[in-house]
Amino acid sequence: ESENLNITLMDETSQLEVVLHYSTFEECDVIARSMTITNKGDQPVFIETADSASLDFGLQDLEMIHFYGRHNMEREYQCVPVTNGITEISSKRTSSSHQHNPAVIFKNPTTTETSGNCWGIMLMYSGSFAIRTEKDQHNQIRVSAGINPDTFEWKLEPGQSFQTPEAIFSFSNQGLSRLSKNFHQFIRDHVMRSPLAKKNKPVLLNNWEATYFTFTKEKLLEIAKSAAEMGIDLFVLDDGWFGKRDSDMEGLGDWDVNKEKIGDLGELIDGIKKLGMQFGLWIEPEMVSEDSDLYRNHPDWVIQMPNRSPIRNRYQLVLDFSNPEVVDYIFEKISAILRAHDISYVKWDMNRSLSDLYTKTLPADRQKEMAHRYVLGVYDLANRLTEEFPEILFEACSGGGGRFDAGMLYYMPQIWTSDDTDAKERTKIQFGTSFFYPVSSMGAHVSAVPNHQTGRITSLQTRATAAMAGTFGYELDPTSFDQEEKDLIKEQIAHFHDIQNTILNGEYDRLSHPYKDSYSAWQFNDGKRVIVHGIRYEKRPNSLRQPIELRNLNEDQMYKETKSGMVFSGKALMNGGILLPGELGDNYPFEFIFEALPEKNNQN
Ligand code: DGJ
Repeated sequence: ESENLNITLMDETSQLEVVLHYSTFEECDVIARSMTITNKGDQPVFIETADSASLDFGLQDLEMIHFYGRHNMEREYQCVPVTNGITEISSKRTSSSHQHNPAVIFKNPTTTETSGNCWGIMLMYSGSFAIRTEKDQHNQIRVSAGINPDTFEWKLEPGQSFQTPEAIFSFSNQGLSRLSKNFHQFIRDHVMRSPLAKKNKPVLLNNWEATYFTFTKEKLLEIAKSAAEMGIDLFVLDDGWFGKRDSDMEGLGDWDVNKEKIGDLGELIDGIKKLGMQFGLWIEPEMVSEDSDLYRNHPDWVIQMPNRSPIRNRYQLVLDFSNPEVVDYIFEKISAILRAHDISYVKWDMNRSLSDLYTKTLPADRQKEMAHRYVLGVYDLANRLTEEFPEILFEACSGGGGRFDAGMLYYMPQIWTSDDTDAKERTKIQFGTSFFYPVSSMGAHVSAVPNHQTGRITSLQTRATAAMAGTFGYELDPTSFDQEEKDLIKEQIAHFHDIQNTILNGEYDRLSHPYKDSYSAWQFNDGKRVIVHGIRYEKRPNSLRQPIELRNLNEDQMYKETKSGMVFSGKALMNGGILLPGELGDNYPFEFIFEALPEKNNQN
């Protein structure tokens, strides 16, 4: 899929050979860079740092945009000047993390969404990483990116090689919008391997916020029946269906159906399918509860320092995925369920960071290999499951969006963006995510109000508008809704089915800066149809209506707005814009759909 250049370097003193790999993806202005280090000598060598790439900017004024966060608040946008000294964006959690995303943009201070120079660097890696920016005494700037050296070391025996993850670079001289499009296209065309990546996504209903751990087969079927009546395509059974798992303190690792709770899984799936929906299942394969048969039988499989009590997080321990025996076991357990049942979707969760980095399977001088080997174990399981079940839609998840990276997107074409389902907060989280990752990769759901994370109450339409900037689904108990609400959801689903091709496969543009503006607006454009969606956060009294300018349209193309029937040129929409609705109320949603008119209607 690319043109490749390999540059071989040899260090005669240490007898180390380094091959720098460059791959160019011309149509999306992307260069991928990685390296292979080979020990050509006759003594073992310890690699202490193996960056995937570095980039020199020379002398220029730069700002850095990065995406920091925490659980329920991932990928917050932050733009800071690059100052003298070293700045590090990194994770040491053995996952790419909620705290920092492994992707950074550099830009000149005058660069905007639509003009100026900017450079993006994204690591295709799901483990601990570091992106270090140094501005030296002469104000020269150098960026290096790769596996975090603080939790890494690799012993290379004579003849052995080490391959780094790839760093992905892109440049735009037309502002951030073009840079994001380059990454979106690169991820969709060259990263995502799933045959389902570009297909329309099923509108799903997930039972997590509807029931948490407390459900019965009857309750699930009741929710499913209501979901089916509203037009939902896929019913997802989240955490709590296996082992003895009635709270987050128990059961993880016991991947056998809890028949007392949900009866026979096959019968439940048949019941769902009879309603005309597909069925999906949640798993958290990397974890184990101490109160589980797996832990009782294999206490030696967890990550733990010798003679020390392990650190718990969400009451759970982590299985040692650097040990192939553990990965084999989990693969057999999970694949047995997928082989035995008609399952169309799997949500792969991961609900804690790693600590106590120690493995019983490696000698003392290889302990610092463990974190990277863990990630390779995760990739091995992901590879085996997605190769055997290519027709299953896999969605990655990590306590929401704690492992939202191109490494996971290679195996799974969508990722649950955040556990924060509040519509207003989501516009910011999805804004930050959109700088590198395409809309089709962002899991987004409508949930109940008051919102479980913020307590905020927003209208059903506001919540749907926010969730439509993603794979779209619901995460609530529809049985409690009155007929009017059910009818509205039915309309929303039918509407999404109608416009999803433009949303998921069109080009995406940010039309506002939700951290600075009093509204959030974004645009989808597939060449024939342009959709503007957004939420006005606050209604100020006696204020002028805000115009929003559209982006990246054909200037001379005429567009018809479908509700009013009014016709505008691309030039008018991009320079004059459209007016935000003036209706009363905070968090007010809006939608404008424009159809491109056939050429004969176009004017100069
Ligand atoms: C965290 C996920 O992000 C949630 O959506 C849900 O699946 C829970 N885990 C279940 O434990």
